[in-house]
Amino acid sequence: GRTVVVTGSASGIGAATVAMARARGATVIGLDRDASASDTIQVDLVDEASIAAAAAALPERIDVLCNVAGVPGTAPDQTVLAVNLLGPRHLTQLLRPRLAGGAVVNVASAAGAGWPALLPEINELLATTTIGDGLAWFARAAPPADAYSFAKAAMTVWTARTNWDWLPDGPRLNSVSPGAVETPTLADFRATMGPALDRIGGLVGRFGRPEDIAAVVCFLADPASEWVKGQDILADGGFHGARATGSL
Ligand code: NAI
Repeated sequence: GRTVVVTGSASGIGAATVAMARARGATVIGLDRDASASDTIQVDLVDEASIAAAAAALPERIDVLCNVAGVPGTAPDQTVLAVNLLGPRHLTQLLRPRLAGGAVVNVASAAGAGWPALLPEINELLATTTIGDGLAWFARAAPPADAYSFAKAAMTVWTARTNWDWLPDGPRLNSVSPGAVETPTLADFRATMGPALDRIGGLVGRFGRPEDIAAVVCFLADPASEWVKGQDILADGGFHGARATGSL
């Protein structure tokens, strides 16, 4: 069977991804701050030493890395940037030799869909190489977006760029950008977005379920999608159509 590593495995979209990948026959190893579940390795994605220790505990061959762990915009800016972008970047770079020919799937967010307008600042951030340097750049530069949207936008850009840099042997990288999904995080979005969140949920009929996103992650993890590379798939129940009307 295939070996799949999933960060954020203890909750929400990560937990749904673990369950779906296992049901399809993969050997799944979780990585999370909360390592109470079986087959889970403890990691704190803000800390390079912790990431290195977790990487050392993983097998020599890995078919798929799913970077799902994240924290909402209600967390401190530095934590948001580290957990949602800089830590997963570090982990992916460490695991790259073991992932040759395989796939990386990153969970970004619909909140990052405005990345083209932020490209100059994102590229400045991506020019840093360590978590510490990335955080120092963010504190200094104060880019024109909140930390969550900026980190998610940068995740989408980093995915496409790194896929390009690592061609042709890979691993290939793709991302998924969820709209609002019913997990413990939804309460945080309600706090930051206010009534707009429930209005969006009403317009598209329902909020996403963790399985809605896990299905896209599993598709991008599967060899059947191997010609899809450096792509972002927006899974938001159709709300992107409101942008296409030009009324947003
Ligand atoms: P969740 O809160 O249910 O799960 C997040 C997991 O990440 C938890 O198990 C947590 O322990 C882990 N985690 C947090 N900080 C960590 C750290 N420092 N080191 C290691 N693990 C850590 O969240 P949910 O909703 O399942 O989110 C998963 C991903 O989807 C996140 O990247 C989130 O930003 C993204 N997303 C979620 C949306 C939603 O509406 N729920 C919408 C768009 C994106």
